[in-house]
Amino acid sequence: MPLRSAAGSGKVPRDPVHHPLFARYYARLSVAAETRMGLGAVRGRLLAGLSGRVIEIGAGNGLNFAHYPGTVSEVVAIEPERLLRQLALEAAMRCEVPVDVVPGVAEALPVKSEAFDAVVLSLVLCGVRDVSRALSEVRRVLRPGGEVRFFEHGIGGGPTMRFAQRALDRTVWPALAGGCHLSRDPVAALRDAGFELGPYRRLLLSEQGPRLPISYCVMGSAWRPARPGSESKPGLDAS
Ligand SMILES: C[S@@+](CC[C@H](N)C(=O)[O-])C[C@H]1O[C@@H](n2cnc3c(N)ncnc32)[C@H](O)[C@@H]1O
Repeated sequence: MPLRSAAGSGKVPRDPVHHPLFARYYARLSVAAETRMGLGAVRGRLLAGLSGRVIEIGAGNGLNFAHYPGTVSEVVAIEPERLLRQLALEAAMRCEVPVDVVPGVAEALPVKSEAFDAVVLSLVLCGVRDVSRALSEVRRVLRPGGEVRFFEHGIGGGPTMRFAQRALDRTVWPALAGGCHLSRDPVAALRDAGFELGPYRRLLLSEQGPRLPISYCVMGSAWRPARPGSESKPGLDAS
């Protein structure tokens, strides 16, 4: 018996990432967090000094776009969620650096191998379905010696906080927060995927506010190892 295709059934195929409620509240809360939690300044630090062709994965509503320096020649922004992608398109039209917003998922990036000088991961490894597959895609699309700039939240705090993060991940949190996980370890994941860790620093969001399971962040650089005999570049100033 032939399988029924979505086209044949008259149904619109479901997006690979489908979190319409999360998308709506992320679109609102993230804009407020730019000033209230100082995220705008964090994004500026994350992207400072980048140059050449950049791919940003899980670009959300495009809040990083305004922070790319003029030395970046082009940004390809991958975003799987429909509403956030529409908002990212609008943000792309307002910013100075050329940004191409493209549907896709981290686990199967719709771009050629070794095509980018840098990859930007900002608050996205917490939510991808398969971290190691996503990072092997990051490696594939980066040129040898290319840089990953990351700003992620993850496991942190003392034993009680870590216990709470793991418990929330096993129960309600991913369903409430669009597939997000609280207890992943982005630095270990990058190392395990074969990246050379550059400078990185831990930070709390926000520094003054209460410590919540989502407060434990890390920002830094990592590199796809260069081919033997070629030089690598200095990364993010994470001081
Ligand atoms: C918390 S938001 C962060 C958005 C943006 N990077 C920022 O810094 O504001 C996480 C984003 O990752 C996207 N996402 C979720 N799963 C993904 C996947 N498998 N591949 C790529 N992006 C994904 C979501 O749609 C959402 O836009």
